[in-house]
Amino acid sequence: MFLFICSSLLIVSIQSIPILNTTSSSLPLLLVISFDGFRWDYPDIYDLPNFKSILKRGVRVKHIENSFATVTFPSHYTMVTGLFEETHGIVANTIYDPVLNDTAIVSTMTDTKWWSQNPYSQPIWISNQLANDSNQRRSGVIAWPGCGTPINGHRPYKYENYAAKRPFDSVLKQIFNWFHEPTDTNINFGVVYHSEPDFTGHRFGPISSEMNKTLHEIDNYVGQLLQIVDSDEYLKTHLNVIVTSDHGMHDVDKTRRIRLERYIDTSLFSAYGGNSFANIFVNNISDIDRIYQNLSVIPNYEVYKKSQIPDEYHYRSNVRIGDILIVGKVGYEIITPGIAETESLGNHGYDNRVESMHPIFYGFGPVFKNNLLAEPFRSVDLYPLMSYILHLNQRQTNGSFDNVKHILIGYQQDKFSKYLVIVCIISVTIIALIFTICAYRHSRQLVYVQSNQVPVEYHLLSNNEEAGSNFLVTDSEDEEINT
Ligand SMILES: *[C@@H]1O[C@H](CO)[C@@H](O)[C@H](O)[C@H]1NC(C)=O
Ligand SMILES: *[C@@H]1O[C@H](CO)[C@@H](O)[C@H](O)[C@H]1NC(C)=O
Ligand SMILES: *[C@@H]1O[C@H](CO)[C@@H](O)[C@H](O)[C@H]1NC(C)=O
Ligand SMILES: *[C@@H]1O[C@H](CO)[C@@H](O)[C@H](O)[C@H]1NC(C)=O
Ligand SMILES: *[C@@H]1O[C@H](CO)[C@@H](O)[C@H](O)[C@H]1NC(C)=O
Ligand SMILES: *[C@@H]1O[C@H](CO)[C@@H](O)[C@H](O)[C@H]1NC(C)=O
Ligand SMILES: *[C@@H]1O[C@H](CO)[C@@H](O)[C@H](O)[C@H]1NC(C)=O
Repeated sequence: MFLFICSSLLIVSIQSIPILNTTSSSLPLLLVISFDGFRWDYPDIYDLPNFKSILKRGVRVKHIENSFATVTFPSHYTMVTGLFEETHGIVANTIYDPVLNDTAIVSTMTDTKWWSQNPYSQPIWISNQLANDSNQRRSGVIAWPGCGTPINGHRPYKYENYAAKRPFDSVLKQIFNWFHEPTDTNINFGVVYHSEPDFTGHRFGPISSEMNKTLHEIDNYVGQLLQIVDSDEYLKTHLNVIVTSDHGMHDVDKTRRIRLERYIDTSLFSAYGGNSFANIFVNNISDIDRIYQNLSVIPNYEVYKKSQIPDEYHYRSNVRIGDILIVGKVGYEIITPGIAETESLGNHGYDNRVESMHPIFYGFGPVFKNNLLAEPFRSVDLYPLMSYILHLNQRQTNGSFDNVKHILIGYQQDKFSKYLVIVCIISVTIIALIFTICAYRHSRQLVYVQSNQVPVEYHLLSNNEEAGSNFLVTDSEDEEINT
């Protein structure tokens, strides 16, 4: 009976694993939207009705655990490659590369050399197009960092570069036009970047009436998005949508700021990064200790020699990371030589374990569970999640599909029955083991002898003359045989 229950559960668990419909001519559809600097708790601080309705029909993850450095270009590249920044090489919004002997800022990071430092880097829009499908898959990308640059030889089928102040409704219109094109040019994967609410967060701070206004505009975009999806029966049943972000935002003010040149001699180094952290390249390595000494005494700043950067940052093994890394404690800023001070009231880029640095995640569509407020996963896990939705082979990255299964339909059941199967296997093994041990002891304890050969030191347990057999037991084993 027990075995029967176990084997039935096995069958149920095998059947509940989602199978790809390889006979279907329709490709999986996914739209990913990132709102730059959308902190994980904005929907709770500012009442956002359309985000609430996404949760009702889908999943909200409490927050995303993002990667260091928590700034726009590095984080967005991590989201689409599943790789840590030290691995993909976009380590800051301002990069110095000693091998290339060149520097780039966001507006000049257009050459492939910046994005293809690691030949293994593959944005998911490329993975989608390279999939060995019987169908032609096409990706369309709007304004996402790196989308207009060929990366390791590939570019998205359709893309539009970032344009400042582009209204978001025109972006929505464009991406859905691409989905709706004839089958020989349409996209099955859309990827969209929007620069708000980051801009408002820097200028006015994360808690401000301006932020309230910007977030309600974004909430209206989300409302439009839901309308577009619901007005098309095919999209409503087939399109998966992810709304997420790269990092959060923390309030700053000019009383919590240092200028590097007040502490170290500018002739000895150059520094690159953001206002929250800086990669310091020392001209002569014999000066590293002296520069480190001067910086390490400044209160409210973490200073690391390259080899000492915490493992949790995954921010060390790349030539684009400085000899010394300085990171402000949350809310504290660094002005590098030659950079003008701004009047900003919000910033990010800090330790990725700090709560205010965490971004949002919402998802809805056929793969997602409904009305689920789910436990966090990491930004590197987005790549395996998107690979699953797009029916791609899971590529080796720094992310893990296991970390995102809990938000997907069909997976809680699997996890539950997997445990049951394990429990069943263990139980059966234990029972089998007990039987084996008992049988073994029986065979050792019961000795077959002729009745005339019964040694006197044994009691006679049974004496069936007809069968011509006698089962004997030693004194010491008596009790076990009788039970
Ligand atoms: C697979 O797709 C085909 C064509 O869309 C459909 O007729 C069939 O029912 C699907 N099978 C499964 C198991 O979903
Ligand atoms: C945001 O603005 C709305 C009006 O547009 C107002 O009702 C609401 O109280 C404001 N929320 C916060 C947190 O300031
Ligand atoms: C690096 O580039 C600078 C100009 O940008 C140049 O002056 C310098 O000589 C170059 N260094 C090497 C080692 O090529
Ligand atoms: C597609 O198939 C080719 C040839 O078998 C292989 O080299 C390539 O890696 C595959 N691409 C993907 C994305 O699996
Ligand atoms: C360290 O600080 C002292 C005092 O301001 C200064 O004289 C010295 O040049 C600094 N050292 C370096 C390596 O910048
Ligand atoms: C680096 O500093 C050391 C010690 O001050 C000096 O001997 C050496 O010449 C310097 N190297 C360069 C390339 O300037
Ligand atoms: C991240 O993934 C890359 C590619 O698979 C790998 O080379 C690297 O060692 C990984 N990093 C960590 C910290 O596991």
